[in-house]
Amino acid sequence: MTVNNPKIEAPVLHLIGEEADRLGLECYVIGGWVRDLFLHRPSDDIDVVVVGSGISLAEAVAKRLGKGAHIAVFKTYGTAQVKHKGMELEFVGARRESYRRDSRNPIVEDGTLEEDQNRRDFTINAMAICLNKHSYGELLDPFDGIGDLERCIIKTPLDPDITFSDDPLRMMRAIRFATQLGFNLDGETFDAIARNKERIGIITKERIAEELNKIMLSRRPSEGWILLDKTGLLPLIFPELAALKGVEVKEGRGHKDVFYHTLKVLDNVANLSPALSSREGDKLENRVLWLRWAALLHDIGKPRSKAWDPQAGWTFRNHNYIGAKMVPKIFARLKLPLNEKMEYVRKMVDLHMRPINLIEDTVTDSAVRRLLFEAGDDIDDLMLLCDADITSRNEQKVERYHRNYQLVRQKMVELEERDRIRNFQPPVNGDEIMAMFHLEPCSLVGELKAAVKDAILDGVIPNERDAAIQYINELWQKKQK
Ligand code: CTP
Repeated sequence: MTVNNPKIEAPVLHLIGEEADRLGLECYVIGGWVRDLFLHRPSDDIDVVVVGSGISLAEAVAKRLGKGAHIAVFKTYGTAQVKHKGMELEFVGARRESYRRDSRNPIVEDGTLEEDQNRRDFTINAMAICLNKHSYGELLDPFDGIGDLERCIIKTPLDPDITFSDDPLRMMRAIRFATQLGFNLDGETFDAIARNKERIGIITKERIAEELNKIMLSRRPSEGWILLDKTGLLPLIFPELAALKGVEVKEGRGHKDVFYHTLKVLDNVANLSPALSSREGDKLENRVLWLRWAALLHDIGKPRSKAWDPQAGWTFRNHNYIGAKMVPKIFARLKLPLNEKMEYVRKMVDLHMRPINLIEDTVTDSAVRRLLFEAGDDIDDLMLLCDADITSRNEQKVERYHRNYQLVRQKMVELEERDRIRNFQPPVNGDEIMAMFHLEPCSLVGELKAAVKDAILDGVIPNERDAAIQYINELWQKKQK
């Protein structure tokens, strides 16, 4: 079949074909770019497979493209990358691979296009389009990848036990592609993941995290986590999340299945994400991703805080606090970043129960100010997480909760206008306090500073410098008595 698609007419593809003809090499565009062509997903990453030396074709192409092209050659792997005008062209020689049981790193030998296609992960990723002039645009699809795209199926080209045992990362990739594309796993492919799940142990945590992040950024991330659970991979890669599963019943009283509740919250956040405004120079870079991690972890402390109270039934006291303490350990183990992104997730988990406590009429301004102070600029994200956390099936209840959160938001806006607490910095710092009373650094300085902060948050004094100085003076006088 010859593909007629405007993207195939890209000048760079013709140029690659011409250079291959000149060098007497057969070459094909293959893998993700071809898959995405049929899915109408624009992509600037082009993988080219060459029957022969990928490096010599890359060098010839880089030369033809001229000054704007940058080439990087990886001799040990027999690959080369050419970057040009935002495009990344990867050149590799067609190969045949065989694997050892203890490693993802294959023994590689030169091979034919067919052998190269056999070693690929999924039928939809094994399609190739010829770039040589004699057959330009011809699709070589030996495993009916097109059919699987139409049927929305993720399936391995060979026996899935071989494909997954060769490279167990592909088990994660299968679930990630299914989630990203909204596809199903072919039955045998699914069964093989379940059979080979223990092999995930030879994959580095960084690579697993990469796949998890792609699952998290999909339209319905819950689908990926459900597949991870059903295939049995979940307890191996993320036992704390697997521990949220199940319902315990005592004296006829059960509790929510926290795993499925969590996934609902995650999908809710994914639906609400467009409401997250992008901020220039945002340290979180990808706020959408980290708020989704916060949603996934918001109740992670529940199994450890679960208790039975004969009157109240099941309780999860302090689960937010226990969960927040678990976040750094989970991030470290999953090799997620341990910087301000982790700090943000930790803070969200810690604070997620606070807005619900602000709903009562009797709530003091002080409690609202304290939350504004602790959440700072992330307060809108926190409120979005709280809205997403409403998963009751009772529509009236859902509406009432949303309405209450709107009232909390209103209270916050009013107080923020008046007191400017969000980015509050105490109007008198430690150095000034030491100078005022001729003090050396000591715990008293910290005490006075904390007292000013509390007085402002409690509304005892306004958030102003003169008032703060007068307040400190009064405190000092009292202490001298
Ligand atoms: N591939 C594979 N096994 C892997 C990784 C990659 O067989 N473990 C093959 C697939 O044919 C894949 C191609 O290499 O299409 C390119 O891999 P990669 O760039 O990682 O993935 P893409 O398919 O391009 O998709 P994405 O960019 O979304 O990861």
